[in-house]
Amino acid sequence: MSDFPSRDTILTALDQVPDPKSGQGLRKAGMVRGLAIGPGRIGFMLEVAPADADLYAPVRAAAEAALRALPGVEEARVVLTAEAGPGPGPSPRSTPAGRSAALSPQATAPARPAPVPQGRPEHVKRVLAVASGKGGVGKSTVAVNLACAFARLGLRAGLLDADIYGPSAPLMLGLHEAPVYGEDRKMQPAEAFGIKAMSIGLLVDADKAMVWRGPMASRALTQMLTGTRWGTETEPLDVLVVDLPPGTGDVHLELAQKTLLDGAVVVSTPQEMALVDARRAVAMFGKLQTPAPVLGIIENMSGFIAPGTDEPIPIFGRGGAKAEAERLGVPFLGEIPIDLSLREAGDAGRPLTATRPDSGTAQAFLKIARALA
Ligand SMILES: Nc1ncnc2c1ncn2[C@@H]1O[C@H](COP(=O)(O)OP(=O)(O)O)[C@@H](O)[C@H]1O
Ligand SMILES: [Mg+2]
Repeated sequence: MSDFPSRDTILTALDQVPDPKSGQGLRKAGMVRGLAIGPGRIGFMLEVAPADADLYAPVRAAAEAALRALPGVEEARVVLTAEAGPGPGPSPRSTPAGRSAALSPQATAPARPAPVPQGRPEHVKRVLAVASGKGGVGKSTVAVNLACAFARLGLRAGLLDADIYGPSAPLMLGLHEAPVYGEDRKMQPAEAFGIKAMSIGLLVDADKAMVWRGPMASRALTQMLTGTRWGTETEPLDVLVVDLPPGTGDVHLELAQKTLLDGAVVVSTPQEMALVDARRAVAMFGKLQTPAPVLGIIENMSGFIAPGTDEPIPIFGRGGAKAEAERLGVPFLGEIPIDLSLREAGDAGRPLTATRPDSGTAQAFLKIARALA
């Protein structure tokens, strides 16, 4: 990698591309954000106002071309933060504005109208968020396996890894390729194990995204939501599973403002501390501009299944999430045991539900997916 262009060389190259507003080079105009230099690839974000999205589309193309012209650069990705997809608007091809009653491909009846300007991404029938109050409870594991479970049930399923600061979809699904842009300026999502996936980890170096300010992270999320070709008019996505970051930060607010969430699933471990956070997550969905129904709580790491046995040993306790769900008046969706093969499958980029669907843990995910479908 020694002959890969230095940061200075890259920024100098970007200064050859003029900013149409100020007339200065892109670096001098202060428009290069989150520059990520990876093996063979360069990525950054052009932060522009939504009204200027069209003006800057050719700038993005020019910047990508300038980067690709540098020696050793195989991939150059410029994310235009303001690029608004047609999702929120009343586009004649968009899905009905109401929440779909069910996931089944036939479901069409809108239950109630959504307030403008929220909407789903284009050609997506249902958006399902997976949340947790606390990190490390297995939210991403649940999101990935649920998406795979939906696919096994015959639904067209997608996964949006909205954890800008800690993306896990590339690892868990074994994805390495940066998405390509189509003529409609939308990104083609990655495809693996029968699901479509998009993650900031595919666009820029995750270490760089870690230091983004809140608004940049939010815009990156919007870009991935509305700038991805999740489906087509004839083959819309039945369900988009969104792996939310832990907590209740900017990204959640952005998602709440831009997207109609058809429902939320909260993941918790059985410990009291995790349950307190799960309670907060449940409350958060009720406070959104359009409150999202909490479809239920999943207890993850609910007991340990020793190799060769079937009955979970409750190391961290068991049943706490079920009791909490009853207290909160939301459905309890099921338990996922501590299962080393689930972790190994995730680390290997081969989700258990897709690769070993007959295993007890995969069956637990399929049961939950059936309840949600
Ligand atoms: N039920 C489980 N059994 C065994 N390992 C699990 C289980 N759920 C999650 N893990 C592991 O725990 C770690 C954290 O899980 P992850 O899904 O990344 O959590 P989060 O997204 O909430 O931060 C990962 O290494 C994952 O493989
Ligand atoms: Mg995660």
